[in-house]
Amino acid sequence: MLHIALAKGRIAKTVMARLQAGGWKFPEYSDDSRKLIFTDAEGRLKVTLVKSPDVAVYVRRGAADAGIVGKDILIEDGAADVYEVLDLGIGKCRMAVSGIKGRQDVMKKRILTVASKYPGIARKYFASRFQPVDIIQLNGSVELAPLVGLADVIVDIVETGTTLRENGLEAYDEFMELSARLICNKVSYKMKQEELKKFIETCGFKK
Ligand code: PRP
Repeated sequence: MLHIALAKGRIAKTVMARLQAGGWKFPEYSDDSRKLIFTDAEGRLKVTLVKSPDVAVYVRRGAADAGIVGKDILIEDGAADVYEVLDLGIGKCRMAVSGIKGRQDVMKKRILTVASKYPGIARKYFASRFQPVDIIQLNGSVELAPLVGLADVIVDIVETGTTLRENGLEAYDEFMELSARLICNKVSYKMKQEELKKFIETCGFKK
């Protein structure tokens, strides 16, 4: 049986929908269930829902054969000791520097305060522009930071742009294209080639 760890949220929903459309049945799965492990009716595939920064941990340690997670997480946390097998072309989004709409001039400040879930990516971006920054690491709802005066700008992913728009923010610079990646445990990659191939095909992904 192949065991796949999916990043909870949009990625998991998309992949589960693709699997079900491909004929795989998960009797206990629903988008709003709190259950974390699902096995398909024929016992061929086990799916575990994991917080995105933990997907590579499960895969690296062999607790899951493979995982699906955004490239943003792989860049920020690293993907040491796993194979990045495939760009799945789902979960497409951009990494952007954003701030209050119409206030892009703030980028000229001598020292910019930056809030982000991605301190590594943010630091690298501003270092490449020789811009001194004070980085504040947050764990979610980063859009709040400029609104309450916690930070001048944020570095975060933008997918539809709805969160920025609904909070009176805008992207000043979209600097990185991102999408979901299939990563694989190095041993499982050798031992479970056929199962992996089948999984990729059923989800409508191409290798
Ligand atoms: C992500 C991201 C943005 C939002 C962007 O947050 O951090 O807040 O999605 O999507 P949009 O452009 O389609 O609005 P997520 O939903 O993962 O929640 P979080 O902020 O709590 O991490």
